[in-house]
Amino acid sequence: MKHNNDTITSTLIEDRRFAPPKAFAARAHLRDPAAAKALRESAAADPEAYWRQAAREELRWSKPFTQGLDWSNAPHAKWFADGELNVSDNCLDRHCEGGRVHKAALIWEGEPLDGNEPEVRTLTYGQLRAQVQKAAQVLQRLGVQVGDRVAIYMPLIPEAAIAMLACARIGAVHSVIFGGFSAESLRDRIQDAGAKLVITADGGWRRGQALRLKDVVDEALGHGTHGVQNVLVVQRTREDIAMQPGRDHWWHEHMEAAKAVGKPVAVPAEHPLFILYTSGTTGKPKGILHTTGGYLTHVTRTFKQVFDIRDDDLYWCTADVGWITGHSYVVYGPLAAGATVFLYEGAPAFPDKNRFWDIIERHRISIFYTAPTALRTFMSWGEAPILKHDLTSLRLLGTVGEPINPAAWVWYHEVIGGGRCPIVDTWWQTETGGILIAPLPGVQECVPGTATLPLPGVLPEIVGPDGEAQPANAGGLLVLKHPWPGMARTIWGDDERFKETYFSRVPGIYFTGDGARRDADGNFWIMGRVDDVLNVSGHRIGTMEVESALVSHPLVAEAAVVGRPDAVTGQALVAFVTLTAGTAQNPELAEALRHHVAHEIGALARPAEVRFAAALPKTRSGKIMRRLLRELAGQGTVSGDTSTLEDFGVLEALRASED
Ligand code: WTA
Repeated sequence: MKHNNDTITSTLIEDRRFAPPKAFAARAHLRDPAAAKALRESAAADPEAYWRQAAREELRWSKPFTQGLDWSNAPHAKWFADGELNVSDNCLDRHCEGGRVHKAALIWEGEPLDGNEPEVRTLTYGQLRAQVQKAAQVLQRLGVQVGDRVAIYMPLIPEAAIAMLACARIGAVHSVIFGGFSAESLRDRIQDAGAKLVITADGGWRRGQALRLKDVVDEALGHGTHGVQNVLVVQRTREDIAMQPGRDHWWHEHMEAAKAVGKPVAVPAEHPLFILYTSGTTGKPKGILHTTGGYLTHVTRTFKQVFDIRDDDLYWCTADVGWITGHSYVVYGPLAAGATVFLYEGAPAFPDKNRFWDIIERHRISIFYTAPTALRTFMSWGEAPILKHDLTSLRLLGTVGEPINPAAWVWYHEVIGGGRCPIVDTWWQTETGGILIAPLPGVQECVPGTATLPLPGVLPEIVGPDGEAQPANAGGLLVLKHPWPGMARTIWGDDERFKETYFSRVPGIYFTGDGARRDADGNFWIMGRVDDVLNVSGHRIGTMEVESALVSHPLVAEAAVVGRPDAVTGQALVAFVTLTAGTAQNPELAEALRHHVAHEIGALARPAEVRFAAALPKTRSGKIMRRLLRELAGQGTVSGDTSTLEDFGVLEALRASED
């Protein structure tokens, strides 16, 4: 029912346009529409020149580059390849030297409340640099060298950012693994990246509970080392944990022994900065590789443009550092831009539904960037907790991770933004490194439901199945014809898969995996993934991964996982499962299988629903007909062509299993 309402509202408000609010536009960096248009046009005419200039304007280079884009080895882009720089130098040292040494870089709030008082830590740029210098030394003393991989499995505490920046400072490559992933997922990623050191914490606080992260690391490493020589453990929850002599070290002890000295190591622009795992259509998660100069240029420039950042802003992006949004728009973009970043460790409903609004009011947050799924959750809680708080410090709002339904957009604008704040709906991906499509908030109308126009220097297109350009409003595949500096360079250890996944659907052109249409004004409307990747609460989940987890259970014979629309999470996972002969179907087993998936992958992949079937619908060639399952999961009925079904009875059986 909810969905119907939403659809009705969407059609009514689809055409609403929101001009930049006057007070916002009056102060915006970019407030002249003609200048913005000219910028877009000149950047489109020569994207390489645009990005060269951005790289010069936004970053400090230890050795200036002379080369711009090198696409001679397509699809492997090189940007600014003969230049040298260091990411932590750009995020810290140059601000310390340039007048921001005493400006807050990070303001962090922990989840627990002691009485009514939360723990708050502020690190100025000077203090953050000192911590990063020490941490860099600790890593070096533990044998980490340029190019070595370091896995980071942390709660959202300042040490997570310190660890990332310390790796960058010495040219080590980090791979941050979201703290919600299971031991199995962690082990896979540690092994695939070839990490030699793991940085973790005893635990972190979430919904009033201590998440015991170190236990998960111990389970992941098991008795073998998997190439990991050392584990650094930050003390956060102070719960008892096991420390393995020789392998495990307390972060605070090593930090105390280190000195806040040491220069950043300049590396070539194409030196790897990080590997971040994300789900794909097939097989295991892929390690997306991002490098140094192009990536930092892209995230710094787009951060400033899209968030119209000023020195007096307090910017809060609610993403965890375990995701790309946390890399690009919690740590690297904002710090390279010299902004003040707010971080919150815990859950929005702890101790009650006031927490986020209380945070905004107490800290005077001015920019708030979150996911549509969070907004829909807040909507479902009602307006009372929000209206109790003074949110007038907010001047700009953003969303990321999934399409935002217009009803949620308008609610965000009115209820949270008080009608004063533009909303930047930002479309991008782990693979794109940074934002590609989003409004420039001071000069552009926002339209609920669309991320609007590409940023300057970005050239997306909508194409048909054979790569032919589509006319306005015709749906098609979203592709990028021209390379951009933040684009992924490869899949770690699997270059063939990189080419195959992104550059073969339309030969030689980057395919995003998303379907979209462009309207007559040029706005891009993202319609969602066209592959077997699902988006649950803004998190990408590969159906294959969940299926593999299910069939690893001894009682499961076959499994197929599809998405169905969900009013809060966007999509929800529905698993169709056949059991081994003689196994009885019952709700306890369904629950056990949901739990099994959470244990194998992490709670974020737990299916909303497990349905048992006698058999799965297959084509004559044995392929599972996911379309039918999707329809069944979503609408409860199946329409369209079923003539290739091998066994019509199966379909009936599935329908019946709904009751
Ligand atoms: C989806 C997150 C519509 C899209 C930064 C994309 C969006 C996938 C939006 C990437 C948006 C992200 N509107 N859809 N504003 N932002 N998506 O890698 O399907 O976790 O391909 O990166 O999320 O998810 P990822």
